[in-house]
This record gives sequence, C-alpha cells and structure tokens, in this order.
Amino acid sequence: MSDDPVRFGYIGCGFVAQTIHIPNFRAQADCDFLALAEVRQDLGRRVAQRYGIPRVYADHHELAADPELEAVGVSAPFALQGRIAEDLLRAGKHVFMEKPMAISVARGEAILAAARESGKRLMVGYMKRYDPGNLMLRERLQAWQASGECGQIVLARNHGFCGNWTYARDPNVAWEESEAKAPVPDDAADYPTWLPEERRGSYVGYLQQWTHNINLLRFLLGDDAGEARVVQVMLDEDGMTGLTVLEIGGVRAVVESGMTQFHAWEEHTTVYFEGGWLRTAAPPLMHKETPASVEIYRAAHDGEPVRETRELAPAAWSYREEARHFLAQVRSGEPFRSSGEDTLADVRLCEEIYRRFLQI
Ligand SMILES: NC(=O)c1ccc[n+]([C@@H]2O[C@H](COP(=O)([O-])OP(=O)(O)OC[C@H]3O[C@@H](n4cnc5c(N)ncnc54)[C@H](O)[C@@H]3O)[C@@H](O)[C@H]2O)c1
Repeated sequence: MSDDPVRFGYIGCGFVAQTIHIPNFRAQADCDFLALAEVRQDLGRRVAQRYGIPRVYADHHELAADPELEAVGVSAPFALQGRIAEDLLRAGKHVFMEKPMAISVARGEAILAAARESGKRLMVGYMKRYDPGNLMLRERLQAWQASGECGQIVLARNHGFCGNWTYARDPNVAWEESEAKAPVPDDAADYPTWLPEERRGSYVGYLQQWTHNINLLRFLLGDDAGEARVVQVMLDEDGMTGLTVLEIGGVRAVVESGMTQFHAWEEHTTVYFEGGWLRTAAPPLMHKETPASVEIYRAAHDGEPVRETRELAPAAWSYREEARHFLAQVRSGEPFRSSGEDTLADVRLCEEIYRRFLQI
C-alpha cells in the first residue's frame, strides 16, 4: 500500500462530472486532484477554479501527456468515453470510467487489450456494487447459500422502471454549462457490426440503462467468471420495455425493464429462496447518504410463526463509495470490484439480448 495520495486527473466537465465525480474525488484525503481536461475550455477553467484544481487541459490527449498523473477519471458521451479510456490506458494511467465501457464486445476487447499492454487497470462506475444495502444483501445471500438454511434459490428478480434519476440531488452542488455542447465524433464504428442502423438508438438506450441492473444481478449471484447467459427476451417495439430472462450462476434471473413517469426512482431487486427472500430497494440515485433499503424475510421453522426482519444498511452514497474504492485499490494494487474485465460480460449479454430481440 502506497502512503502517498493518488495523483489524479479528470476528463470531461459535464453533468455527471460536475454533480457527482469531481466533488466526490476532490473530497477524498487520498486524492491529489491535480488536473482537469475539457474541450469546452471556458467551462473547464470555471470548474477547475471552483474546486481549486491547478491544471486545466484542452482535451484528454493533453492531460494524458502529463507525466505526474497516475490515475484518471472519465465521463463523456457513451461511445467516446471508451475511446478516451483506451488512450489513457495506453498513456500509462489507471482509469476510472463511467458506464458503459463499450457499446460492442469488439470495442470492449480493444480497451482491455490496451490495459493488458500497458499494465494499467480499468474500473467501470457500476455504483450499485458499492451501495451498503446491496452489499448486505450479497453477504446474506452467500451465508444462506453456504448454510442451506433457506433452501435453494428459486428466482432472482430485478425490477427497473426508472423515473427521475436526478430526483433529490443536492441543490448546493452547482452545475453549469457555459458553452454549447461540443460535437460528438462519429461513433458508427463502435456499434456491433450486425446491428441495423435504425436500431442503434434503442440498443444504446437499453444498454445505457439496464446494464446497471444486469451488472448488479451478476454481482449478487456471484457471476465472477462472466458466464451468465440469455434465456429469453420479450421487449416491446421500443426496444426497452419488457422482460429479459437470464441464467446467472445456475439461477433464473429476470430483468423487468421500463420507463415510468415517476418523480423519484422505481427499482428493486429480490432473490427468492425456498424458505425466504432478500430484497433491496434502490434510493433515488442522487440522494446522498441514502443506501438501498434491505428487507430480509425468513419463513418459520418447526411450526414457529413466520418472522420478518428489516435491517438498515449504514448511511452512504454509492457514487462516493465507488470513488473511495477506486483510490484505495489504485494505492493497494488490489482488484477492482467492478473491473473492465468483469464488465465485458455485461456488454456481451446486452449484445445477445438485442440479437434475440431482433432475431438476428
Ligand atoms: N452511473 C450513472 O448513474 C450515470 C448516470 C448518468 C450518466 N452516466 C454516464 O455518464 C457519461 C457522461 O454523461 P454526462 O451527462 O455527464 O455527459 P455530458 O455530455 O454532460 O459530459 C461529457 C463532457 O465531456 C466533454 N468531452 C468530450 N470529449 C472530451 C475530450 N476528448 N476531452 C475532454 N473533455 C471531453 C464534453 O465537452 C462534455 O462536457 C455518459 O456516458 C453516461 O452513460 C452514468
């Protein structure tokens, strides 16, 4: 474990960077936040000034050439951010990036090849894996599996009907856009080659949103080897609303995907055993210090009445926990809980889901 803080830089000053990652990384004692890069240069300068970040670069190439930086965070348009991450890995930086890592398996593999060749490491921002409520569920699930006390798992179910993901965000964290958005470079080559052009929008819509839910189910059910497979897909013509059945670690797992016009956030996950269940309900994503709530139910044994308990996970904000994890693992050299290698399985599953949906 290194005693020195991580010499850190960040690429992009968009909404996610300004309202989540820059303040979170800036607040950590083990982060020496030295640089920002933003193609909207006036915006980059203003954000750097607000957070007292000394160096401002005009784009990620300039920042990548700064020899002092050892680790970098990235949040940019969905296909571009993977290309940026690849450049940073090749420049010898450890990288934290927003999801999705890539919009095709081929692009994901290219990014991971860059990591292997440079010996640097990639973590992808699946913040649900850092929520203490989800961690509590996972720990209890593993205990029940080891003891057999509640029998076999019958079904895992994630209900992800969205809503307003910025509901209850901290109004004291300023967000500004001082310039119009920069044009996004052509990303046609980043899509799977088999995907019809007219389906790119809904494919990325599904991938962007429900990759979180698939990634969480894989984490809870212990699919470390990335062997989950697609069993059945029933989506509406919009390519997002419906049911996806997966098999994860020998368990049947359902993702219920949809977009409700809900003012807050409608998402919960339940793992049903023969003799009980474990459930977490996600908080509004930007609601700080509010972990997923946890419900643990166990059926009675020996004629005892049915018992139900609720446990509260410790207060925390999952996005801050993931920033802390990244810094800690860069310093210790220990593996990331949401590594790029692991994430490739999510990209593969999303491609398979869409091939089934489109019958290609
Ligand atoms: N984990 C989550 O819950 C969550 C939620 C929302 C969005 N996201 C992800 O976050 C990512 C970013 O979203 P956003 O809304 O902040 O986007 P955004 O467009 O507001 O911000 C991206 C910024 O990157 C800058 N940029 C682009 N190319 C650059 C380069 N080469 N060098 C430096 N800066 C560059 C742009 O000018 C822009 O300011 C998306 O990919 C999205 O999938 C994740």
